[in-house]
Amino acid sequence: MSGGRRRSGRVWRRRGPLRTRLALSVTAAVALVALGVCGAAYLVVRSALYEQLDLSLTQSARLAAQRNPGAGPGTLAGECRFLAAPACAEVVAADPAQDPAAPGLLPVAPAAREVAAGRRAPYYTNITVAGHPARMLTTDYARGRALQVALRADTVQDGIEEATWWLALTAAAGVLLAALLGYGVTRTGLAPVARLTATAERIAATRDPRHRIELPPPGREDEITRLASSFNTMLGELEQSVTAQRRLVADASHELRTPLTALRTNAELLARGDRLTPDQRERASAALGRQLREVTGLVNDLIELARDEEPQPLVEQVRLGALAQACVQAARAHWPAVAFHVRVPDAPVVVAGVPARLSRLLGNLLDNAAKFSPAGLPVEVELVPGVAGRGPELTVRDHGPGISAEDLPYVFDRFYRAGAARRLPGSGLGLAMARQIARAHSAELTAQAAPGGGALFRLVFGAPGAGGSQVRQTGCGGP
Ligand SMILES: Nc1ncnc2c1ncn2[C@@H]1O[C@H](COP(=O)(O)OP(=O)(O)OP(=O)(O)O)[C@@H](O)[C@H]1O
Ligand SMILES: [Mg+2]
Repeated sequence: MSGGRRRSGRVWRRRGPLRTRLALSVTAAVALVALGVCGAAYLVVRSALYEQLDLSLTQSARLAAQRNPGAGPGTLAGECRFLAAPACAEVVAADPAQDPAAPGLLPVAPAAREVAAGRRAPYYTNITVAGHPARMLTTDYARGRALQVALRADTVQDGIEEATWWLALTAAAGVLLAALLGYGVTRTGLAPVARLTATAERIAATRDPRHRIELPPPGREDEITRLASSFNTMLGELEQSVTAQRRLVADASHELRTPLTALRTNAELLARGDRLTPDQRERASAALGRQLREVTGLVNDLIELARDEEPQPLVEQVRLGALAQACVQAARAHWPAVAFHVRVPDAPVVVAGVPARLSRLLGNLLDNAAKFSPAGLPVEVELVPGVAGRGPELTVRDHGPGISAEDLPYVFDRFYRAGAARRLPGSGLGLAMARQIARAHSAELTAQAAPGGGALFRLVFGAPGAGGSQVRQTGCGGP
């Protein structure tokens, strides 16, 4: 598209910088006011100057009429050739045929004949008499005749001319001042916007979201400051997300290195299979298969962790009791030696969520509980329905070694495994994923030492709100 850009369905025309446009608008507004004021002042001065002259003309006309009652067409009195001369007067007939042979001193316009005929009201005009400016009153005089009275208007003309010059000068100075003010005002007013733009440009150029916009001291906030502080908040979140992403990649590459090295060793060993006994070959290929499964699981977990949000269309009303029963059933199949005790209320407990993801969360908790449970001791799962202002609560408790106070703050971190757990299989991603799923469902997942020993995981959902409309009976499977 030439000369324009399309953004979210709207056409943005290419225009000059905001500062120039604002400065021009301010200048135009102030200049318009200055010109308006000067124009009005001109009209006031002009009418005030003429008013005096018009008053003299009215008096002169009255005097001339009184002194020359019933005079015929032609010059009555005076010569307004000289500045200080009295008013000159002339009678004009409505019918041009009655005009005297010698032309009169004052010009006779058709409008004057109409006044003489009584068809028009008296009027004032500016005329030139013998090359000098003059003002003339044409008024009714007698039947079929009008009286024209003129006075030299040099002083008035000079006054008006002088006033025009001064006013034009004032208007020009006003426009100039407006331009300067407009530029200054927009420059000061837009300084925070310029700083904001500069920071945004610096971030775009360096791709470093650690930059922040400098904010004024508290108490001097305005709209732009609020925008800048929102921008800073956004930058903070961006920085956090970039750091988290970098840490995930760094952690992942670190964690993948060990199993991949083991994989390569076994693969190389198998490549020289002719030198191995059948028993050695069997063991190496079994180890290779196991390590491959571990790496696949690790990569799948990482992909799930990297996906931060639950897809909205998959959200539905989930029956937590049925989901817990199904997940325990699946855990029983995985851990046949562990006894699982489930307590769920008879009435359905429903939350809005993605069933596959909630199954994954519960599956991870049950897997941990079973993994750390000593033989013969049960894993207890309990669902408590929500009460006013508090959502339902699901707990998973085991009778294993529990989590020590030093480990407790870190068990939800990615790849964190307590010292004692390192001899058991696992990568330390299960609880990180469980907490991420809980957060996406507005639920809180916490760990604590169970009274009497063992670990107790508590999943508390938010107070019930509007959710999907479907109610689905769910099994406990992968995502
Ligand atoms: N029920 C539990 N009893 C004792 N310690 C636990 C329990 N659940 C988790 N932990 C501790 O928290 C750590 C992190 O658990 P998490 O589920 O994230 O990882 P993992 O089980 O070691 O590996 P993964 O779940 O990725 O296979 C565990 O290594 C263990 O130290
Ligand atoms: Mg686990």
